[in-house]
Amino acid sequence: MGERVEIFEVGPRDGLQNEKRRIPLAEKVALVNCLSGAGFGRIEVASFVSPKWVPQMADSGEVLRGIRRAEGVSYAALTPNLRGFEDAMQADADEVAIFGAASEGFSKANINATIEESLARFAPVMEAANAQGVRVRGYISCVVECPYDGPVAPAQVAMVAERLWAMGCYEISLGDTIGQGRPEAVEAMLAAVSDVVPVARLAGHFHDTSGRALENIEVSLARGLRVFDAAVGGLGGCPYAPGAAGNVATETVHQKLEELGYDSGLDRDVLLKAAEMARAMRGGRD
Ligand code: HMG
Ligand code: MG
Repeated sequence: MGERVEIFEVGPRDGLQNEKRRIPLAEKVALVNCLSGAGFGRIEVASFVSPKWVPQMADSGEVLRGIRRAEGVSYAALTPNLRGFEDAMQADADEVAIFGAASEGFSKANINATIEESLARFAPVMEAANAQGVRVRGYISCVVECPYDGPVAPAQVAMVAERLWAMGCYEISLGDTIGQGRPEAVEAMLAAVSDVVPVARLAGHFHDTSGRALENIEVSLARGLRVFDAAVGGLGGCPYAPGAAGNVATETVHQKLEELGYDSGLDRDVLLKAAEMARAMRGGRD
């Protein structure tokens, strides 16, 4: 059996958050229930953010309460502040994620805070999570390109990664939010970040706008990364990242990993069924 590479399924959150059509709760729950049988260790299913900013995620608590939980799966939620964290705990999220950015333009547009302000806001979330024994993942958006500020310097990504790591995030997910990363740029960024965070604690989060996500995953594998975020059906996009297309599709990453001889432990038939469900949920979009 090949070396293990984990796919972190983010479809129910990153995949659906940008959908224009208000997706009924039952459809979201059915998608998560299907994904629960695919063999994932972690599935991001919810986001406790302002419903004015991301209306599609407004029923996140009901999603978490409505799903059938599979043994051994950690059901994750985004929590930008203490209020979000408390709501996530009320709904029994198994783990949470704080999400910042490497560029000031995106930080302001996405969470209405400068990078420094966002880190200050995350501190009480970390503290509360530590007190309750809940693990916290850290996202960094715009690790190569920002829709507002242009190219992002690797040193800037490393600075934010180091801060999130020092705060206590157990893993840092590096987001090519608008899917514009060229493999050379991803490589340079990873070189800088792996100087400050152990590579085993980094994850790649590639949107596939330019069709380069698989190449960027290969570059990341060569650099030692063994965790990749993906969304079944390739759904997704970020409402505050103009032009951002979907996450790289889980089933595509799965196939690529198989070809390269890695083992993701996933059941392809279930993945394809979930991908079909996800695509059927797609409505109009920006
Ligand atoms: P703000 O306006 O600065 O915050 O927003 P505020 O504290 O002044 O609150 C504004 C309103 O939001 C208030 O309501 C609060 O009660 C409410 P109002 O008085 O106007 O009725 N509020 C909340 N409601 C529910 N849950 C909460 C919460 N907090 C405040 N937790 C805030 C700051 C962070 C809240 C806002 O900017 C926000 O919600 N942003 C979320 C944006 C988002 O979810 N983006 C998509 C996810 S990130 C992503 O997709 C990237 C990623 O995939 C990686 C990658 O691809 O790069 C992770
Ligand atoms: Mg994303």
